[in-house]
Amino acid sequence: MHRDYLIIEGGKSLKGEVLVSGSKNSSLALIFASLLSEGESLLEGVPELLDVRNAIEILKFLGAKVKKVGNSLKILPKEIGCMAPDCLVRKMRASVMLIPPLLKRKGRAVVSMPGGCAIGVRPIDQHLKYFKRAGVEVEMEGGYLLLRGKKLRGCEFTFDRITVTGTMNALMLSSCIEEETYLHNVALEPEVLDLVEVLKKMGARISLKGRSALVIGKRDLKPFKHRVIPDRIEAGTLLVAGAITKGEVVLRGAIPEHLKSVIEALRRANQEVLLEDGKIYIRGKSPIKPLSLETREFPGFPTDMQAQFMALLCVAEGRSLIRERIFENRFKHVGELLRMGARIYVKGDLAQIEGVKKLYGAEVFSTDLRASAGLVLAGLRAEGITLVKDIYHLDRGYERLEEKLKKLGAKIERETQV
Ligand code: EPZ
Repeated sequence: MHRDYLIIEGGKSLKGEVLVSGSKNSSLALIFASLLSEGESLLEGVPELLDVRNAIEILKFLGAKVKKVGNSLKILPKEIGCMAPDCLVRKMRASVMLIPPLLKRKGRAVVSMPGGCAIGVRPIDQHLKYFKRAGVEVEMEGGYLLLRGKKLRGCEFTFDRITVTGTMNALMLSSCIEEETYLHNVALEPEVLDLVEVLKKMGARISLKGRSALVIGKRDLKPFKHRVIPDRIEAGTLLVAGAITKGEVVLRGAIPEHLKSVIEALRRANQEVLLEDGKIYIRGKSPIKPLSLETREFPGFPTDMQAQFMALLCVAEGRSLIRERIFENRFKHVGELLRMGARIYVKGDLAQIEGVKKLYGAEVFSTDLRASAGLVLAGLRAEGITLVKDIYHLDRGYERLEEKLKKLGAKIERETQV
C-alpha cells in the first residue's frame, strides 16, 4: 500500500472540460461476471484503479488469462481454481462477487469472509440467505466461507434490505440456473443494470418490473463484449469540485440520468447546472445554499456522494443537515473537516453542518475512498495548503484524480512519502 499524499493550494476556480472515466463498481462486477463463461470476453472503458488491478490479480491467481490493452481487458477464463486468494479478497469486499462464478464453474467456492471496513460492519447475510435458498450449502470455518452448489435451483426470494452486490450476486447465480428465479426488493443502481445488460448478452433472460426481477438462466453462458458505463460518482465529485471552487466545469462522457438526484441537489444549493449536447455544465455560484439531504438507494441521493456534499455544505450560507441512511459509520471525514475550520455536529446518523465563511488548509487523513474525495474538495476551497494523506484510499476509486483537477486549473501535486 503506497503512502502517497496530495498537496493542494486552495482558492483556484476550476475551469475547463474533463472526460469521466469508466465505472469502478460496474467494472468490478463485470470482471467477475466474465468468469461465468469459459470463452474470451472483452471489457472496454475499464478505469485504471487499485480495485480493478486487485480484481485482475484475483482472476490471474485463479488461472484466468487477462490481457490489458489501454482501458480494455481481454479475459479468457478457460481453466480456473475454486479458491480465492485471501490476501487479495480481504483487501476488496467486491470479491464476494466471485462466489457465483466459482459455484457455476467448480461447484464449490472457498472465499475469505469479507471483514468490515471503515464505513461499517457490512455483513453479507442477504447474499448468503439467497445462496441457501438457491440450494447452496454454506459453511464457515476459520474466517473462510465454504460454499457447495451441486444442485442449484430457481426460487422466489425477497431481500430483507436493498443491497447492490447482493443483488449482483443473485443475478449472476440465477443467470446460470435453467429455471425461473423471482427476486424482489432488488437494487437498481446503474451498475446493477449494466450487469443485467451483460448477463442478457451472455444468454440469460432477465426482465425487471419495479424492484422485482424474473431471471431464466442458461447452463452455458456465452462470453461478452461490453463497454462499461461511466462512473457517476467520479462525475458527481467533479461537479462538486466545480461548485466548491466557484468555477465552470464541463463533464464529457457522463450519463445525466445516473446523476439526477445529485444534479437536483446542486441546483437546490443555488449552483447552475446545464445539460447540453450530451455534456453536463456546472457554474459554481455564491452563495451556496444550505440543504437537507438523506442518502438513499438509487434513484435516491447516493451515499457515495455524501462526503463530497458535506465538504460543499461546510461553506454554505446557513445550516445543513445530512442523514446517512445506508452505512452506520460513514462520517469519518467529519473529524478531518473540523481540522480545516468546519463546524459540524454529528449525532447518530445525522450530521448538522453550520456553514462557515472560510476553510483553512491543514494536514488531513483519508479514512475511506469517498471521505478522501471529500477532503480533496475541501482542500480546493480552503485558504492555504492542505495535505491529504493516505490517498491509496482515493486511488481505489479515482483514476488519477489529481491529473484531472490539475487540467482544470487546480494547484495540486502528488508526493510520495518515503
Ligand atoms: C456497493 O457496496 C458499492 N460497492 C459501494 O461503493 C456503495 O457505497 C454501496 O453499494 C451502496 O450504494 C460496490 O459496488 C463494489 P450494499 P455494497 O450491500 O454492495 C447492508 C464505493 O465507494 N447490508 O448495497 O457492499 C450494508 O451493511 C463503495 O465505491 C446488509 O445488512 O453495499 C449497508 O449498510 C463503497 N446485509 C447496506 O446494506 C447484506 O447482506 C447497503 O450495502 C448486504 C448489505
